[in-house]
Amino acid sequence: MGLGKPDDGLAATPPLGWNSWNGFNTKIDETIVRETAEAIVTTGMRDAGYRYVVIDDGWEAGERDGKGDLVADPAKFPHGIRAVADHVHALGLRFGIYTDAGTKTCQGLPASLGYEFRDARRFAEWGVDYMKVDWCHTDGLGPRALYAKWALAIAATRRPIVLSICEWGRARPWEWAPSLGHLWRTCWDIQDTWASLTAVIDRQAPLHSYAGPGHWNDPDMLEIGNGGMSDAEYRTHLALWAVLAAPLMAGNDLRAMTAPTRELLTAPEVLAIDQDALGRQGRRLRAGSAGEVWVRDLAGGAQALALTNRGEDAREITVRWTDLGMATSAACVVRDVWERSDVGIARESYSITVAPHDTVLLRIEAIA
Ligand code: GLA
Repeated sequence: MGLGKPDDGLAATPPLGWNSWNGFNTKIDETIVRETAEAIVTTGMRDAGYRYVVIDDGWEAGERDGKGDLVADPAKFPHGIRAVADHVHALGLRFGIYTDAGTKTCQGLPASLGYEFRDARRFAEWGVDYMKVDWCHTDGLGPRALYAKWALAIAATRRPIVLSICEWGRARPWEWAPSLGHLWRTCWDIQDTWASLTAVIDRQAPLHSYAGPGHWNDPDMLEIGNGGMSDAEYRTHLALWAVLAAPLMAGNDLRAMTAPTRELLTAPEVLAIDQDALGRQGRRLRAGSAGEVWVRDLAGGAQALALTNRGEDAREITVRWTDLGMATSAACVVRDVWERSDVGIARESYSITVAPHDTVLLRIEAIA
């Protein structure tokens, strides 16, 4: 079959976009989705690289139609999904939708078990470019076989569609999902709290070797701008997702976000790290109360460093170049990615004071 995994080029770098779930749950409708797509353009997010507008759970009517097809809730989407998809496409964006592999979605709405080929075909007819397939109500089912069926169903549509696998990392999807989908969730749902954020980050540490161009670990969607965390914590959220080569699916109300939220979500050098062409996921160099350090290799030999302070007081965090495999005498040009400015040349090591719950993000390049 021509289109389809494993090397279809649809996600050479992690997908960027917006998803309705974190900000709206099931309280979605066609107006919200249209206005959000327009906001992606007017806020500069499209130009920053955000492409996918994804409707999550809650769009479905309570029953399939007489032919057996999924239909949208007519109160929420009176013009149907195709009309929303057309609007999204007319803005130069791509359109995504949600279903569930089991008997019902996580919200108890009609799901796709036994209807994989029919639903994939219907989504393709609607102009869907991205499908998130969830894993609620799947008692006794094997995710590897069922997601393989989805990959076939999508390939049979002959439409390029990104497959977002969402079984929360239970059956070690990083070991089998790369040949089936473009991204797979690695953990349970993120919450808009510091405790949840740090727990999610800890879950990613052992998984760096499984990601690469076309197949990404997905630590879940962004909570930035949803109000539950501080600016410092949201910086840590974005910095770590960039170093983790994570898909960036904004989850806030883009129509009403503050300037600082917009600036964070569109921070160009942070997005450039996330989208780095080498496609190598960062790894944790050091954890613990003395400060946490992550490093990501970048195309061309540079490296991104995330220095996170999980403590409640400001603390100095030091990185020695020998920790990165360089010679003791090595010298690096150090760039502060948030500030978008070079801070100078550092020999042997670099130290910086990091505010509580904040992350300093650096780009370093050894001088030959
Ligand atoms: C699960 C998924 C979430 C979201 C909800 C929708 O919890 O993990 O990302 O899609 O279902 O019901």
